[in-house]
Amino acid sequence: MFIGREQELRFFEDKYNAPGGQLVVLYGRRRIGKTELLHEFAKGKPHVFYSCREITDGQQLAAFSERLLNADSPAAKYISVFADWEAAFKAFRQSIVQASPQAKTVASSAQPKENARKKPVQAASGRKRSSQ
Ligand SMILES: Nc1ncnc2c1ncn2[C@@H]1O[C@H](COP(=O)(O)OP(=O)(O)O)[C@@H](O)[C@H]1O
Ligand SMILES: [Mg+2]
Repeated sequence: MFIGREQELRFFEDKYNAPGGQLVVLYGRRRIGKTELLHEFAKGKPHVFYSCREITDGQQLAAFSERLLNADSPAAKYISVFADWEAAFKAFRQSIVQASPQAKTVASSAQPKENARKKPVQAASGRKRSSQ
């Protein structure tokens, strides 16, 4: 059961509803509730939740591709790994918009490993532009 964090959730909602793209860096000590907060915020919004690991860029792209393609992306029919990050994020956006044409997109990355080197957790949200 998720408890509290009203202020933090309001902050994320404000960013989510703000015009244009938004980048939020969320950081704090281990087990303080960063990942849980992001999950709670994403609840009910079309989203793909992906946690980065400390691996090479190529491996990261492969893992991100797999995560996206498992999330019912239309590209899953013909692609196993996206050629580059731009292609991956285009597919990400497409899958979100397909889920809900009025959807805003949310991207987040988090550090899941208990003993991984300390790094900030990041979350980004951006509103779908009406011209697209
Ligand atoms: N607001 C909350 N309400 C209830 N449980 C929470 C809350 N925030 C975190 N937790 C629990 O505390 C533990 C650590 O939270 P987590 O989000 O994994 O921390 P972090 O990502 O900062 O390392 C998890 O078991 C999580 O379910
Ligand atoms: Mg975490």
